[in-house]
Amino acid sequence: MKKEITVNSSDTKSAREKDYSRYFVAPNLKEAKKRGKEDIQVVQFDGIDEELKNLGRGKTFLMRTYGCQANEHDSETISGILGRMGYTPTEEENEADIILFNTCAIRENAEDKVFGELGRLKHLKKEKPDLVLGVCGCMSQEEAVVNRILKSYPHVDLIFGTHNIHRLPVLLKDALYSKEMVVEVWSKEGDVVENMPKVRQNGLKAWVNIMYGCDKFCTYCIVPYTRGKERSRRPEDVIAEVRDLARQGYKEITLLGQNVNAYGKDFTDIEYGFGDLMDAIRQIDIPRVRFTTSHPRDFDDHLIEVLAKKGNLVEHIHLPVQSGNSEVLKKMARKYTREQYLELVRKIKEAIPDVVLTTDIIVGFPGETEEQFKDTLSLVEEVGFDSAYTFIYSPRHGTPAAVMEDDVSAAEKKDRLQRLMDVVNRLSREKNEALRGQVVEVLVEGESKNNPDVLAGRTRTNKLVHFTGPKEYIGTFIHVKIIEPQTWTLKGEVVTKVEV
Ligand code: SAH
Ligand code: SF4
Ligand code: F3S
Repeated sequence: MKKEITVNSSDTKSAREKDYSRYFVAPNLKEAKKRGKEDIQVVQFDGIDEELKNLGRGKTFLMRTYGCQANEHDSETISGILGRMGYTPTEEENEADIILFNTCAIRENAEDKVFGELGRLKHLKKEKPDLVLGVCGCMSQEEAVVNRILKSYPHVDLIFGTHNIHRLPVLLKDALYSKEMVVEVWSKEGDVVENMPKVRQNGLKAWVNIMYGCDKFCTYCIVPYTRGKERSRRPEDVIAEVRDLARQGYKEITLLGQNVNAYGKDFTDIEYGFGDLMDAIRQIDIPRVRFTTSHPRDFDDHLIEVLAKKGNLVEHIHLPVQSGNSEVLKKMARKYTREQYLELVRKIKEAIPDVVLTTDIIVGFPGETEEQFKDTLSLVEEVGFDSAYTFIYSPRHGTPAAVMEDDVSAAEKKDRLQRLMDVVNRLSREKNEALRGQVVEVLVEGESKNNPDVLAGRTRTNKLVHFTGPKEYIGTFIHVKIIEPQTWTLKGEVVTKVEV
């Protein structure tokens, strides 16, 4: 049994002196906020020690992943590392030798789910004391979360941070042999680790990190604290990875970064931005290239020019606006106004007339008035988004917005979310209706979730299409005529197979 310990998270030294564990480094939000001037080092994953390579032979792990694509992709890396240690994946909780939660801290409800799961697994851990229960991802970067786990969930064996993934083999070994909870969460990170093993979950579509971290510090957002400072991967490393994926037969890649438009700004030896990277990737023989997420502030003309060349660069841009009111945008520290956002949209539409724009919106930011909210509704109409992720503002401890005065009631926020969703859904339906009778190119991904007789795939603009056809179509490109557009999906029928 573990002792219940309470540790001041910033006081990691005294924790170590008391020898709670060989690895005890807890997160520190103040450290995480700092942005140093030191150069970013690219370091190579130093492999897995011989003695650790067989640690998992005959054993299984179960991963539960929450949050954004960055986390999905991190889970692929974690699976890759565990695979190299001999572990195999399982979906069976009762069988698993390791259960890992790769967590998200973006909103309170994401965190609540994980705490609920940790509580639920207390019994399983009691029955199976050898089970290793681990928490990683963005929640582990938060002091309050680590303290709460130390205090109330002592059956957790391992906590490691988003910057400590490459340390998993040694941390896991320590967790297996130590009686105490192993905690290693670095708060400040300036490195890019290359060559980590990955087990990609999908044989058709692959995530590719182009950068890590975020320096934007939007006042509501926890990500700059949980993911550290902006660090770009070297273009040659990104390009080599994309070429390799093309060789392996992947059909689509999504370039990942919290703010891909800031790509390359941290290079001190070369002038090389996101537009340059896209122009290089455009020339690689991979059918579809997407990217997420774009911050409107850094979206430059060169990038628009490159995207307009199309080819494998798809005509879909996810461009989070957050609010349609300039005062709210200012309080959010988004660093653009409503007018600047609309001007950017105008330029993009001029260069790419068939572009599909999607967005993220927060309602109920502290002090948001009804008038300000209405500006968001009108902006949504004016841009004509094809779809939007909509959220009620959730205060995040340690961020500036969390201490802003807020006189908007929870009921009012809920009502605004509903009104916004009504507008967004109507627009989605209208946009999809305009596709009736048109022929679109679909990458067939598999059977539909609800009906194995129906195939499902996506258009270049990332719209979900359902149609009937032979299973051999899975993994290929098909031309589909849209017969019945709906709000979230398009029903169609096969016209021809496409040679790509
Ligand atoms: N880096 C991306 C967004 C990552 S978070 C970008 O800047 O576009 C995804 C979305 O979650 C954000 O766009 C925002 O709409 C939402 N979000 C972030 N923090 C939030 C909070 N505290 N409450 C509610 N929604 C939030
Ligand atoms: Fe968060 Fe803003 Fe960075 Fe996006 S750009 S991750 S919303 S701080
Ligand atoms: Fe969540 Fe972290 Fe992504 S907070 S949205 S998993 S970067």
